Amino acid sequence: MGTVIAITSGKGGTGKTSITGGVACSLALMGRRVLCVDMDIGLRNLDISLGLNDRALMDFSDVALGRCPLARAAVEHPDLKGLSLLTAPMTLPASLTAEKVTSLLNSAAEYDYILIDSPAGLGAGFRLATCAVDRAIVISTNDASSLRDAQRTVAELEHLKQIHLVMNRIQTKLLRKLRATIDDAMNAAGLPLIGVVPEDPQVILCANLGLPLTTRGKRGAALACWNIAQRLEGNRVPIMRIR
Ligand SMILES: Nc1ncnc2c1ncn2[C@@H]1O[C@H](COP(=O)(O)OP(=O)(O)OP(=O)(O)O)[C@@H](O)[C@H]1O
Ligand SMILES: [Mg+2]
Repeated sequence: MGTVIAITSGKGGTGKTSITGGVACSLALMGRRVLCVDMDIGLRNLDISLGLNDRALMDFSDVALGRCPLARAAVEHPDLKGLSLLTAPMTLPASLTAEKVTSLLNSAAEYDYILIDSPAGLGAGFRLATCAVDRAIVISTNDASSLRDAQRTVAELEHLKQIHLVMNRIQTKLLRKLRATIDDAMNAAGLPLIGVVPEDPQVILCANLGLPLTTRGKRGAALACWNIAQRLEGNRVPIMRIR
């Protein structure tokens, strides 16, 4: 059984989906078998950041409710060996319980990593996304509301042994103006850091072109996601200097 990781944030729009995609592609490039599960029911878009736009026919609820085997519902990436996507349904079926999601995740034993893209908020979707995870990555930007929501999210996940923070969309100029540091952000969120991702137009560009971020080489946000993947693998990588 591989490691099940929820990528979450509380606040919407912090970069959960973009970073799930970037880290998943990086892990696949490292030779790992990765299952991405989009748990943003009704608002799924992880397919876009993986470069798998609208390819999935069945979703994770079809597998959890026994309507389709995992092997048929998971869409294999045509260019990134070992990477698959299980997409989200458009509505939350009443019969979809945490127990059913847990047994679905337990059945995905052939994967080294299962990355779950959690929806914003702390509601039913968040609870399903985090019901059976080994660890969590909380994505925050450097604004006060995002950091406060990160802190609230951490409070909901206190039972987990490993929760880490990713600071996304970092711009050094803005940090200077705010007289803020990444250390301040870690203190505000109450979490150790696993990555710092710069503000990078390539994130938006790649999504709009339907390409995984990793196709743009190892720089900017793509390099930051690669570094996060390395740290998940247990490798020591220095935190990126952002200019
Ligand atoms: N490092 C970055 N640099 C530039 N743009 C970014 C970066 N990270 C995310 N974005 C952009 O921010 C927007 C929100 O990102 P994304 O959809 O990944 O967030 P999310 O947390 O998954 O949102 P939601 O809560 O709605 O699911 C997107 O337009 C994305 O391209
Ligand atoms: Mg998202």
